[in-house]
Amino acid sequence: MLPSFPFANTPRLQLRPMVSSEARELLTVVSASRAELGRFMGWPRDLVDSEQARRFIKLSRDGWLLSRTVRLGVYERATGALTGNIELDGIDARRGQAELGYWIRTDRCGRGYAVEAARAMLRYAFEVLLLHKVRADVAVGNHASSRVLEKLGFAQEGVLREDRPVGSAYVDHWRFGLLAREF
Ligand SMILES: CC(C)(COP(=O)(O)OP(=O)(O)OC[C@H]1O[C@@H](n2cnc3c(N)ncnc32)[C@H](O)[C@@H]1OP(=O)(O)O)[C@@H](O)C(=O)NCCC(=O)NCCS
Repeated sequence: MLPSFPFANTPRLQLRPMVSSEARELLTVVSASRAELGRFMGWPRDLVDSEQARRFIKLSRDGWLLSRTVRLGVYERATGALTGNIELDGIDARRGQAELGYWIRTDRCGRGYAVEAARAMLRYAFEVLLLHKVRADVAVGNHASSRVLEKLGFAQEGVLREDRPVGSAYVDHWRFGLLAREF
C-alpha cells in the first residue's frame, strides 16, 4: 500500500480521499461542471447518476490500495465544499514515474486552486514516493490546463497523436513532463 498523504492542508484547500457518502455531492458538482469538464476529458459524460458517482469513489479508493493511483477530493477549507479532484495515476515505482491529473468545478475556476492542489500532489510524488518524473497529458487546445502545468514548471515534450477518446473522437494530446530536480 502507498504511504499516507502528508500534505492534506494547503493554504486554502483540504486534500483527502472522497468517501462513498459524498456520491451525491460529487454527482451535483460534476453535473454542474459537465460542459467544461467534458470538453477535454472523457469520463464526465459517463458520471450521470449516484451509482456511477459511488463507483467513481470506490475506484479511487481501490486504486490507492493497489498502489496505482492516489485520487483525492479537493475541498475548499473556507466552505468545506467539494471543489475538484487531484490525482497521481499509473504510479510506477520501478520506472520512477506517474501521471498527474486534475479538475476543478467550473464555479471555482480561475482562483489558482488547480495549481495549489497540484503543488501538494507533486510534493507527495517527489518527496514521499521519490519519483524521478511526473508526466501530464493535455488535450490539444486545453490552454487553461497547459497554463497550470507551465506555472508548475512542466515542459512540453511533444504531441501524442489521437491518444485517447474525448466524446466520439480520439484526440491529440500534448505530453508535459516535470523532473524531480526541476520541482
Ligand atoms: C484546467 C483547470 C483544472 C484549471 O483549474 P483552475 O483552478 O482554474 O486553474 P488555476 O486558477 O490554478 O490556473 C489557471 C491558469 O490558466 C489560465 N487560463 C484559464 N483559462 C485559460 C485559457 N482559456 N487560455 C489560457 N489560459 C487560461 C488562468 O488565467 C490561470 O493562469 P494565470 O494564473 O497565469 O492567470 C480547470 O479549468 C478544469 O477543471 N478544466 C476542465 C478539466 C480539465 O481540463 N482538466 C485537466 C485535464 S488535463
